[in-house]
Amino acid sequence: MTAGNPLSIVMLAPQHDRSAFDCGQDDLNRYLQQVASQHQKKQVSRTWVAVRPSEPERIVGFYTTTLAEISAEYFNPKDLKKLPKTSLPVARLSRLAVGQQYQGQHIGQRLLIDAIVRTARLLEDFAVVGMVVDAKDEAVSRYYQHFGFVPWQDDALKLYMPAQALLDVYAAVIGE
Ligand SMILES: CC(C)(COP(=O)(O)OP(=O)(O)OC[C@H]1O[C@@H](n2cnc3c(N)ncnc32)[C@H](O)[C@@H]1OP(=O)(O)O)[C@@H](O)C(=O)NCCC(=O)NCCS
Repeated sequence: MTAGNPLSIVMLAPQHDRSAFDCGQDDLNRYLQQVASQHQKKQVSRTWVAVRPSEPERIVGFYTTTLAEISAEYFNPKDLKKLPKTSLPVARLSRLAVGQQYQGQHIGQRLLIDAIVRTARLLEDFAVVGMVVDAKDEAVSRYYQHFGFVPWQDDALKLYMPAQALLDVYAAVIGE
């Protein structure tokens, strides 16, 4: 899906057809179909969907973000220099999925960069020390590492990207 077939990333809204989405993972499909919209209304999380202008109701992929606090012990000490050794505020990428027929076309990458950019913008008004994400398996952990996420000290299925790295991605995207 390239320049000839552009993609928009917009907040989940009633016109989006959640029922047709299938990323191959039942829990993620169910989340989008049954939970995402409720959580959005209740200010628990935000879900962003990738759609094509030619079919604006069809969800090609989505991601969900929330805010959280995690213990400082999970971060690599070099990222933690001068940070308080307490619970630290983070943005959490709690879901990321691309429809099966669209996988491998850099749409996950577009969504991930969009999530990073939105979090970097958040830093103008709210403080978070980084973005965290849970990977369901080692292949997905490697996927996040491919984009610069760092595994937690004791668990490679949990990863984070420090705030400065989020800002660096943002600066690179703005400079494009
Ligand atoms: C995981 C998922 C979101 C990836 O999205 P995608 O659109 O298929 O992946 P992309 O096309 O954006 O991949 C972009 C880059 O990541 C690389 N990549 C893909 N999978 C990788 C992996 N397991 N390890 C390392 N790199 C990987 C690609 O080679 C590509 O690199 P390149 O730019 O150098 O060519 C998607 O496959 C998916 O929705 N899977 C099912 C749901 C799921 O598992 N979600 C994660 C929940 S934890």
